[in-house]
Amino acid sequence: MKSNAPISVAVRVIAPVIGALLVAAAGYAQETWTIGMSQCNLGEPWRVQMNADIKKAAEAHRSITVVFKDAQNDNLRQAAHIDEFVRAGVRLLIVSPKEAAPLTKPVSDAFRKGIPVIVLDRRVLGSDYTCFIGADNRKIGRAAGKWIAKTLGGNGKVVELKGLMTSTPGQDRHSGFREGIKGSSIEIVFEADMKWLEPNARKEMESALARFPRIDLVYAHNDPGAHGAYLAARAAGRESAIRFVGIDALPHEGQMYVRQGVLAASFEYPTGGKEAIEAALQILAGRNVPKEITLSSRVFTKSNLDKGGELLAE
Ligand code: FRU
Repeated sequence: MKSNAPISVAVRVIAPVIGALLVAAAGYAQETWTIGMSQCNLGEPWRVQMNADIKKAAEAHRSITVVFKDAQNDNLRQAAHIDEFVRAGVRLLIVSPKEAAPLTKPVSDAFRKGIPVIVLDRRVLGSDYTCFIGADNRKIGRAAGKWIAKTLGGNGKVVELKGLMTSTPGQDRHSGFREGIKGSSIEIVFEADMKWLEPNARKEMESALARFPRIDLVYAHNDPGAHGAYLAARAAGRESAIRFVGIDALPHEGQMYVRQGVLAASFEYPTGGKEAIEAALQILAGRNVPKEITLSSRVFTKSNLDKGGELLAE
């Protein structure tokens, strides 16, 4: 009996310690936060890159797991995805909305239920969200306008192929551009909403080419649009008479087109994926983040490509 005493002492002392360690380990495991990421579509390389940037940034942190949903360019589906995330009890939402108006209510509902929401790239209406992250589309549009006016020597016939005009980047890239060309003699001979999609841009450009024997430049609100316009011009044998300018400047898309001489310039539109995860970590740690995080942008042309482009002024 006596010889068992040290064992029972050890059991009495060590068992609670082991127990406490197990509880702590379980508690630690429960500290994994699930983030729901609602992406409006994955049809364009830029959005695939956004998801990849989010995934890469999140993988460096064991405390978070990101679950992705792709709404395939459908507002109703995206609204349903946001509701599903809320019902599943995610700790935070990242939303890159298709259109501002239809996604405002689902975002607002989630936010009012106490779920922090980071809105990425395209905006919703009102202010029922935690933080908006994106580059300044109006500034990018203005810079594109100034660059185009300068490149064309102050006058010329321009086609504007707009992004979805019910999404905020389309509206801002349009109004900024018009500000940028103000005071020049640039004439917008044709404008159309190609809804961010390359096949639409190609079709619209075919109409423009059929109507106007002279077009000096195409300003498209994204690189897929500029490339679609280029393909239409090439099919008509007119690509060498026209310059093409786009926005996004992904290394393997816009920057590559600039290198190939397809685009004269591409303006960078950073995805904000890495910044969204940085902000998410701050919010989940109970810290405040700014309501607006504005990302910088660069312009890429053949002459500055190898230097990594040039930061937009202002
Ligand atoms: C992709 C995209 C990008 C564009 C962004 C604007 O869906 O059209 O090309 O820069 O969305 O929200």
